[in-house]
Amino acid sequence: MRIILFAGKGGVGKTSISSATGLAAAEQGLKTHIMSLDTAHSLADAFDLDRRLMDKNKGRPVEVADNLSIQEIDVVEEIDKNWGEVYRYFATLLNVTGLDEVLAEELAVLPGMEEVSALLYINRYLRQNKYDVIVLDCAPTGESLRFVSIPTALEWYMRKLFQIERRVAKLARPVLKRFTDVPLPEDDYFDALERLFERLEGVEKVLTDPAMTTVRLVTNPEKIVLRETQRAFMYFCMYHMSIDAVIINRVLPARAAEGYFENWRQAQLEHIEQAKECFAPVPMFEVPFYENEVVGPEALAKLGRELYQTHDPTDVLFSRPPYRFEKENGCYRLEVHLPFVVSDDVELANRGEDLIIRIGNFRQHILLPRHMASREPSGAKIDEDRLSITFE
Ligand SMILES: Nc1ncnc2c1ncn2[C@@H]1O[C@H](COP(=O)(O)OP(=O)(O)O)[C@@H](O)[C@H]1O
Ligand SMILES: [Mg+2]
Repeated sequence: MRIILFAGKGGVGKTSISSATGLAAAEQGLKTHIMSLDTAHSLADAFDLDRRLMDKNKGRPVEVADNLSIQEIDVVEEIDKNWGEVYRYFATLLNVTGLDEVLAEELAVLPGMEEVSALLYINRYLRQNKYDVIVLDCAPTGESLRFVSIPTALEWYMRKLFQIERRVAKLARPVLKRFTDVPLPEDDYFDALERLFERLEGVEKVLTDPAMTTVRLVTNPEKIVLRETQRAFMYFCMYHMSIDAVIINRVLPARAAEGYFENWRQAQLEHIEQAKECFAPVPMFEVPFYENEVVGPEALAKLGRELYQTHDPTDVLFSRPPYRFEKENGCYRLEVHLPFVVSDDVELANRGEDLIIRIGNFRQHILLPRHMASREPSGAKIDEDRLSITFE
């Protein structure tokens, strides 16, 4: 099975491109499923389906073409199914601490529950071997990073904290009951968490397996959007997820740029050049700004053809992690894969959050994670095909 995530800033074209990719995979005869993780669902709109049909379906898959189904997860449904006791505990907790009941119930939808619901589906489909390709139309960048961080965080919680918390709750419950109305979680809360965890088991391995799961970053040739894409690029690398393409959507064709849009076109061309410095060697694809919105199967199929051209959209298009971040004896280390470096012509410059690597004519910009950006690079060395930079 292949899992392809499409991530990027709001409005850049994730849903259109996810849909086009799913459609192209299905046309090859592969059983394909597109799942929307964005609460502001718009998959059905991209396929020009009747909204009422989706609403009636309450988050279950809907067939939209041969070999192709789409799914817009309905959190409220999922909470009932998956979170029962956990949700009820939080709702009670919020309620007794002074919030009114309706608000407490709303707020008890914890950040992350949506993402976990999606992970549960992915794991279930994997176990059932239900699809050949799953396309994930992610929420805007911030939330989609939370989505990929959840399996790691949850595993840590279950391993380290869970047993302790459960024991503490058991001991403290009778004592605390005498002093306060604030309830401690009952055993069935812990049981529910445990069951949930069992159903999630293994999903992290799948998401970080570069032969199976890849991320495609969707962006526009605009300064602010590219900046966010750079940040996302780095974070996905930190979570050990493999990015196999950067897709630059809405590139103004030359003929659209006469007159009013001339400045836009010029700026776009410059941003595309810069993007190459940021994302190489990950392959970059371009999609033109169309004359109309991309709605309905026909428009989506056209987008798919123009985007992938001779490539197979389900292939792993690139598989080597460009960066690795590590921490050793209080020092951070960044490893950059540069197969062609010759040691004496590497130049490093640290400008704000950016690290600029210059090797002859080749230049690469790396946006550093926040906790590394405040440190000075103190050394660089080359190991075979890797440049390794230490930060003190
Ligand atoms: N290349 C393009 N040319 C013209 N319109 C586009 C293009 N890509 C996306 N759109 C339109 O832009 C809007 C936002 O796209 P969408 O895919 O929903 O973005 P996202 O999912 O990232 O929020 C939609 O109306 C879509 O039809
Ligand atoms: Mg969308």
